[in-house]
Amino acid sequence: MSTYDTDPILESQAELTAASHVARVEAGRKSVVLKDRFGRVHRSMRISVTDVCNIRCQYCMPAEDVQFLPSASRLSYDQIVSFVRVASRCGIQKYRLTGGEPLTRPNLHELVQGLSALECVRELALTTNGMLLADQIDRLAAAGLTRVNISLDTLSEDTFKTLSRRQGLNRVLEGIEACCQRGDIELKLNALVLRDVNLCDVVELVQFSRARNLQIRFIEFMPLDGSRAWSNSRMVSGQELRELIAREIGPIQPLNRPSPSAPSTDYTFADGSGRVGFIDSVSQPFCGSCDRLRLTAEGRLRNCLFGREEWDVACQLKTGAIDEAEIVNTLQACTQAKHASHGIAEPGFTPPERAMYQIGG
Ligand code: GTP
Ligand code: 5AD
Ligand code: SF4
Repeated sequence: MSTYDTDPILESQAELTAASHVARVEAGRKSVVLKDRFGRVHRSMRISVTDVCNIRCQYCMPAEDVQFLPSASRLSYDQIVSFVRVASRCGIQKYRLTGGEPLTRPNLHELVQGLSALECVRELALTTNGMLLADQIDRLAAAGLTRVNISLDTLSEDTFKTLSRRQGLNRVLEGIEACCQRGDIELKLNALVLRDVNLCDVVELVQFSRARNLQIRFIEFMPLDGSRAWSNSRMVSGQELRELIAREIGPIQPLNRPSPSAPSTDYTFADGSGRVGFIDSVSQPFCGSCDRLRLTAEGRLRNCLFGREEWDVACQLKTGAIDEAEIVNTLQACTQAKHASHGIAEPGFTPPERAMYQIGG
């Protein structure tokens, strides 16, 4: 695109605050909106800080011989902050740090601090397997982190070992407990169910979450596993889980989506106690309202989990003086190239080259 679309929401907000309007005029910058060919305005960015993980979940990573990026090829925290400064001027307001396992990267709280200090960053969240969280949550919260999603697929150490090929469920539970103790973290649990591994854990997981007044979301298994062993028969649909939960625990009722772009459809128990969500990415794709872009650990921009193309911003962030217009152009090009949907159910679908841990969960 030769000219930038302007964002009516950002424009009207600017009118409301004369000071910020003046500041923007002074800076000589025009608000940019990242709207794609299908009219979807992009407001969220998922930033992977590393592809390294301390466990090896079957649904994400291969069992052995995992080749991680050399640490020197990862974007530095300063580069990520510089990138976000530009992206936030293009209307990206929500950021989520992912991995691999983001907490394996040293001093993640320093990145959180740098990002939360940026005025245009409205929301900063973390998706983690929770194993290193108990030790880090105080530092992260002090740096400005307020939202955390933790994977919890089972409450059995044996099943945890089968699923993640490592031990350490107790550390995940300590991470959950440490977040709950603080009281100032918006915490959600994520469970991915593989029919042959942890379908029998679903009821216990819901009861565990309800007892702690936590929301658990069940995520459909997508063809993004490192072993390329995805099959439709291993995936358990949200519908099947809703029926199971209603039968075994009690009736549930759908709630309105908090935002049209949210991946999860949330339900409440009819007796009012507790919430459960379903991320039905395969059986009921939510691509029509997708507002997400992704940045990989080595600085490649992606417009979709299943995208085939990547845009290199690392090279634009490596030079001493950052050319903001160049990064904006890359964000626009990436958004413009986005497809209508992931196409998992379409004939001839092939999974992307990268697995989930290499993209960002
Ligand atoms: P909040 O709703 O803000 O709490 O976060 P979230 O659900 O977007 O983030 P989280 O990292 O917890 O995402 C949970 C899972 O949803 C991911 O691991 C993916 O399996 C799935 N998911 C998230 N974003 C997308 C997306 O854009 N497309 C698809 N197909 N799945 C996604
Ligand atoms: N399909 C769907 N979600 C996945 N995740 C990892 N691999 C997959 C997959 N193949 C999710 C995990 C976790 C987040 C980091 O990514 O459930 O919540
Ligand atoms: Fe967005 Fe792609 Fe996910 Fe669909 S599959 S919701 S387009 S990232």
